[in-house]
Amino acid sequence: MKNIAIFASGSGSNFQAIVDAVKNGTLEANVELLVCDKPGAFVIDRAEIESIPSFVFLPKSFTNKEEYERVILEELQEKQIDFIVLAGYMRLIGPTLLEAYEGRIVNIHPSLLPAFPGKDAIGQALDAKVKVSGVTVHYVDAGMDTGPVIAQEQVELSENETKESLQAKIHEIEHHLYPAVIQQILQHERGA
Ligand code: GRF
Repeated sequence: MKNIAIFASGSGSNFQAIVDAVKNGTLEANVELLVCDKPGAFVIDRAEIESIPSFVFLPKSFTNKEEYERVILEELQEKQIDFIVLAGYMRLIGPTLLEAYEGRIVNIHPSLLPAFPGKDAIGQALDAKVKVSGVTVHYVDAGMDTGPVIAQEQVELSENETKESLQAKIHEIEHHLYPAVIQQILQHERGA
């Protein structure tokens, strides 16, 4: 079975959905590590409750991205991580990790990419007054939400949609879409 590391910066509801899918057997993988760049983030509590080791770091305390990514890479290698899942990790991945895990890093983004990349995709969709938005799972490259798309699911916006209501709809999609897509990719790798 493949070992995965989840990178997250916030509440970690997607982290939880992935861990729950592993526990109920719909995702055949081991979640071996949480990587978090925000000491105090709720996702760290979730990892602790689930007895999943976490590597928490403060980017400011390193000279640059390369330096902290080297330390992360050591952690990943020590835990024999095969696959990296970004779930609300609010940083671009640099060459150190991209080269080591080429084609083995995925991200989830709360819009139908290429629409609304970057921060606050939900706010961007509301401001643009679109009638349909959604969720994208994609491979990660050096750009901001630019890698090849793996899967997308749409959501309709209602007349009086708010940031909170749209976020709730999007989370609901993410929590079933992400574990299912990860399972598909890992299955495919097993068969390859
Ligand atoms: C998700 O909406 C995801 O699409 C985006 O960040 C959010 C993370 O939410 N990249 P959570 O921390 O998993 O609850």
